[in-house]
Amino acid sequence: TQTGVSAAQPSPMVGDAVSPEKFITILYGSQTGNAKALAQGYKAKLDAAGISAKLVNMADYKVKQLKNESHIVVIVSTHGEGDAPDDAVELHDFLSSKKAPKLPNLSFSVLGLGDSSYEFFCQTAKDFDKKLEELGAKRIVDRADCDVDYDDAANTWSQKVLDKVQDELKAKSNSHVVSMPHVGKPSLSVAAAQYSKKNPYTASLLDSQKITGRDSVKDIRHIEISLEDSSIQYRPGDALGVWFKNDPVMVDELLGLLELDGSTQVTINDDTLSVRDALIEKRELTQSYPSFATAYAGLANNPELNALIEDKAGLRVFLGERQIIDVVRQYPAKADAQALVDMLRGITPRLYSIASSQAEVEDEVHLTVALVEYDAHGQVHQGGASGYLAQRLEEGGEVQVFVEKNDNFRLPESTDTPVIMVGPGTGIAPFRAFMQEREAQEAEGKNWLFFGNPNYTQDFLYQTEWQRFVKDGVLNKVTLAFSRDQEDKIYVQHRLLEQGAEVFEWLEQGAHFYVCGDANHMAKDVHAALVEIVQKHGAKSAEAAEEYLTALRRAKRYQKDVY
Ligand code: 2AM
Repeated sequence: TQTGVSAAQPSPMVGDAVSPEKFITILYGSQTGNAKALAQGYKAKLDAAGISAKLVNMADYKVKQLKNESHIVVIVSTHGEGDAPDDAVELHDFLSSKKAPKLPNLSFSVLGLGDSSYEFFCQTAKDFDKKLEELGAKRIVDRADCDVDYDDAANTWSQKVLDKVQDELKAKSNSHVVSMPHVGKPSLSVAAAQYSKKNPYTASLLDSQKITGRDSVKDIRHIEISLEDSSIQYRPGDALGVWFKNDPVMVDELLGLLELDGSTQVTINDDTLSVRDALIEKRELTQSYPSFATAYAGLANNPELNALIEDKAGLRVFLGERQIIDVVRQYPAKADAQALVDMLRGITPRLYSIASSQAEVEDEVHLTVALVEYDAHGQVHQGGASGYLAQRLEEGGEVQVFVEKNDNFRLPESTDTPVIMVGPGTGIAPFRAFMQEREAQEAEGKNWLFFGNPNYTQDFLYQTEWQRFVKDGVLNKVTLAFSRDQEDKIYVQHRLLEQGAEVFEWLEQGAHFYVCGDANHMAKDVHAALVEIVQKHGAKSAEAAEEYLTALRRAKRYQKDVY
């Protein structure tokens, strides 16, 4: 390892059952990669401080090992309505089960990632925190529940944990014949991952095409971005992080409403810039959130808003339907520029599942983006990143991007393995990448696509490409669910059920099953359909069918990229 404690040195802490070689285990559960990236960063930080840590994905963790640990930190995200990431489910359930051991010798701290606009904010982290305490483990630093712009809060938490651990090691070294671990050199292997969230690549927009029809209820764009000269590599399954800029028209209106001069200087993390630039580039305006509402209520001094912030459920509904500007329009106030900037969340990049394979498109990256646009409160509203990519960014315009790896969504290692892909709506994106890749690999494995959208004539995304893949024998089956072409809604899960016998046959032949798209309804309904299929065609109880799917998930044969 790169730590100062080399394996050749005898452990200075023998007898204490605390060897610095594996003093801390960092356990992470991550769906989109954020928790994983934080866990990796934290490992580097501990390494640099000479404290050796083991980094383990929860899915690969042997639960029996828990009893032997002295210190663990848990870094875990929460999705949708309080759901654990797939790789955390097993450990999460184990800790809640009767099999969970007492852990009186364990010290722990938990970091949660989530989105405070949701009711079950950081629920998975809260569960871990509570369970570990109930099992007798000792919390060394209070859990931190981080919101969408998590960087600062995560840093503060990780520093606190580090301080605690160092204090503990110091205390031990004073009372025993023990020396502090040496301070080692920080890891220097950064060159490979040159571009990142904090250091994005400035790419240019090559093309943006509307791929839904004129009469479609949706506006979905195919976006092509050039990565020329960046030597950025990505793999099918990865996502592209996109930093976007807010609409200047909206920002100017906001400044006017708050009676602010756009050129007034403000400071963000030691950078000085105009409040107008800060609002365009650095602050989240297309969503509203409780922390803003609470701070803004202090300015607006409006009894109705004051009452609203006391009513948590009501506030969530209110904010869920509004952007920052809607709140300001509804409850006017005068603001100080710096105070305004301070009460707004930092802007966060949006992640889009990549719709291309470099085997096919080389130094380009393609996305499938639904333009979020709707009328509300008497005004047109647009999504932040989708509005930027689809409308405000001109061809040749610059956009800052980075690749977000997603090892939880990968084609099978063997090109002979069959693949079933379920991707309604923009959930189709990664499967375009999959098929481009499999074509380039001349893969022998069968491929089956389930796609759904409102109308056949308007919304059959990439229709000619699928037809070509079928013609060339790359794609073996395409099953379509156009929900609004008949009286009764037909969704992908209905098609899965209809084809249940064959779906089960493919699974029995070792197929990998992939789901991409809506997390809250579609992915759950598809899961329920799978349970039903395995029950019926595998002649199993509901419980045994769930176990069958759990085993698939553990074998990485059932993967989800849902949002
Ligand atoms: P709808 O909008 O006509 O109800 C992509 O968005 C497609 O997914 C649309 O055809 C949409 O249908 C459909 N859809 C909506 N809810 C769904 C659900 N619970 N499961 C699967 N598909 C769904």
